[in-house]
Amino acid sequence: MSSSRSRRAAGWLAPGLASIVVLGWVFAGSHALAQTTAYPGIGRTATPAEVTAWDIDVRPDFRGLPPGRGSVALGMEVWEAKCASCHGIFGESNEVFSPIIGGIAAADQKTGRVARLLDPGFPQRTTLMKLSSLSTLWDYINRAMPWNAPKTLKTDEVYAVTAYILNLGGIVPDGFVLSHDNIAEVQQRLPNRNGMTTAHAMWPGRPLGTPSPQNRRPDVQGSTCMTNCAAEPKVASFLPDHARNSHGNLAEQQRPVGAQVGADTTRPPPAALPPRSARPAVVAAAAGPASATPPHPARALAQKHLCLACHGVENKVVGPGLREIARKHKGRADAADYLAQRIANGGVGVWGPIPMPAQPQVPAADIKALADWLAAGAP
Ligand code: HEC
Ligand code: HEC
Repeated sequence: MSSSRSRRAAGWLAPGLASIVVLGWVFAGSHALAQTTAYPGIGRTATPAEVTAWDIDVRPDFRGLPPGRGSVALGMEVWEAKCASCHGIFGESNEVFSPIIGGIAAADQKTGRVARLLDPGFPQRTTLMKLSSLSTLWDYINRAMPWNAPKTLKTDEVYAVTAYILNLGGIVPDGFVLSHDNIAEVQQRLPNRNGMTTAHAMWPGRPLGTPSPQNRRPDVQGSTCMTNCAAEPKVASFLPDHARNSHGNLAEQQRPVGAQVGADTTRPPPAALPPRSARPAVVAAAAGPASATPPHPARALAQKHLCLACHGVENKVVGPGLREIARKHKGRADAADYLAQRIANGGVGVWGPIPMPAQPQVPAADIKALADWLAAGAP
């Protein structure tokens, strides 16, 4: 596959691998391509190169793994340049995602079962604690990381950074080179390689109701109390009042669709839930003060371009609250230009160590509208 652009075009259109048809209009003007098809008039069969670009999954038996190799040393360079800002120098950061490294012991490599997973006192589950198939780690990095620029790593860099993660976890030594030749052997050192169960109906080929001894049960077990059941549950703890709004206004963070929206946490909780007939008003309130001032159109842009995944309107989520940004740069003569530049190119260091990724997918006109809105105080 020659370019990531054609890769994306194929990805966007292909609904499933069984019978991929690429719609003709995308390749309008390319008559040779628009000819052969099982569905006359609506496209053509995908080319082998297009299928190859899609077919990147690596399976637990390492089928699908492209050949290559990468050292721990190269992995450290990749990690520090492209991963550490979000995951921490040692993969220990809890800022952007839960830690990747930690919680495993040397003894786990012998048992293949991470002992700490059974310790309710251990606060968190890291990636290396849970990982049972090395293919998953390789595949996930290859397809999804770095988060702000997926699919930009070369194959050897994926091997290298995977080796580095394993090295940080004490699973392979400093001088190690991970390759398609030895990855199956490294799988046998994973601390939680025996941690996956397939003895339940979630696993294909063993549906519920298969006769005993093959009988499979769901992967979670519950029991319904039918007799002598405990009395009404008693609520033993409440969210303290001061914490109600500590993650920003929930009503602003949920899509105002349907009857279920977040509570307006800027106000004290109502003594009783509003009657069902009054709920649509709640929806309208969550979308913005409907009556007098309709929400500013730039807020819809912030939602559309997923800015709100990282920025609350008032509060910090991953990045600062949008109104916090507006306040910080209030009075700055070049605020609109500065903010437009920051939105387009991303950057780091004004608010802390977490970077904002560049936003090349956002049209320039929308960036300007967002920047003008922020420069005007984000009304
Ligand atoms: C801009 C921030 C950012 C950068 C840079 C980044 N990641 Fe991530 N990473 C994330 C987020 C967020 C998630 C969780 C994504 C999700 O669950 O949808 C994640 C998840 C992961 C996971 C999965 C962990 C798990 O247990 O599910 C791995 C492994 C990982 N990243 C490795 C890397 C590597 C290797 C790099 C560098 C090549 C990298 N990341 C760069 C933000 C980032
Ligand atoms: C992946 C998370 C993420 C996404 C998505 C994101 N941002 Fe950011 N943004 C951040 C972080 C983190 C910072 C702080 C960077 C810093 O400290 O310099 C930031 C900083 C900014 C700044 C600069 C603030 C300053 O004081 O210089 C602006 C403006 C901004 N974001 C607007 C936006 C807009 C508009 C969008 C949507 C088009 C958006 N961001 C999408 C995480 C994100």
